[in-house]
Amino acid sequence: MPKPNVYVTRMLPKPAIDLLKEHFHVEINPKNRVLTRDELLKNVQGRDAVVSLLTDIIDEEVLTAAGQKCKIFANYAVGYNNIDVAAATESGILVSNTPGVLTDTTADLAWALLFATARQVVAADKFMRLGQYLGWDPLLFLGQDITGKTLGILGSGRIGTATAKKSIGFDMKVLYHDIKPNPDFEMAVPGSQFVNKETLLKQSDFVSIHVPLLEATKHLISDREFKLMKKTAILINTARGPIVDEKALVRALKDGEIWGAGLDVTEYEPDFESELAEFDNVVILPHIASASIETRTMMGLMAARNVIAALNDELPPNCLNP
Ligand code: DGY
Repeated sequence: MPKPNVYVTRMLPKPAIDLLKEHFHVEINPKNRVLTRDELLKNVQGRDAVVSLLTDIIDEEVLTAAGQKCKIFANYAVGYNNIDVAAATESGILVSNTPGVLTDTTADLAWALLFATARQVVAADKFMRLGQYLGWDPLLFLGQDITGKTLGILGSGRIGTATAKKSIGFDMKVLYHDIKPNPDFEMAVPGSQFVNKETLLKQSDFVSIHVPLLEATKHLISDREFKLMKKTAILINTARGPIVDEKALVRALKDGEIWGAGLDVTEYEPDFESELAEFDNVVILPHIASASIETRTMMGLMAARNVIAALNDELPPNCLNP
């Protein structure tokens, strides 16, 4: 009997590919870029399983193209806003994600962004490389202090909690907001306080976003929210770009409504509002919050294990639509 046929939409860390190859015939997108829509539609056809990325829009058309034989779309990400899970369920196709393994790695990067933005690390490094440093200057690259400040966490799930926990060494006050108070968050971050969104925005020195991208969270931070924030505040986004209205962010930075922003994600990835690049107090990264060797490998192994389970008629460990 021929081995089941698995398509992987982009090269993944080798241990994940090796694991898949132990069990299946595996085909991988040979190009070092995201598949075009046409390529995606063509390549999913006739597969038993697909390992997809957050850059692949998996909607009804793609699910139909994959056809009856396909048992699972194993997304190589914890976020799954790129997949129409309801349509997959309707088509009898399982969907899985990679929760847990990237929590601390993502929270670490939220902190890297917070530090880099507050202390203008990237702009200062560029200044040195350009040979512009002429000697110690009392007014050079003055940033924002971190110790003793207030950290506002929007979204009290795994990554929000891990980000908040890491503030303890900096004697910060932690405020958080979510749909409802979260006792697990409060236990993990002693002294943290549940507040409404307005209070969080008004009182926080750093606002870090950790909510999923849904209809309800698109442009969660826009003109109204920037106007509520402190003029010295810094916005950190390691979640999804469209949660922040990027045009409103540019305006808020120009008008001095907030002080800076650290962004791992942008509204129209890979594009972003070009004016953002003009601010020294803005750090923009290419969606690398989970990008450590260990974590990306674990994510790949998790996706592979989800495929193995599905193709053995077992429930995948991280199934979103059992
Ligand atoms: C995710 O997993 O959703 C991240 O955005 C990429 O690791």
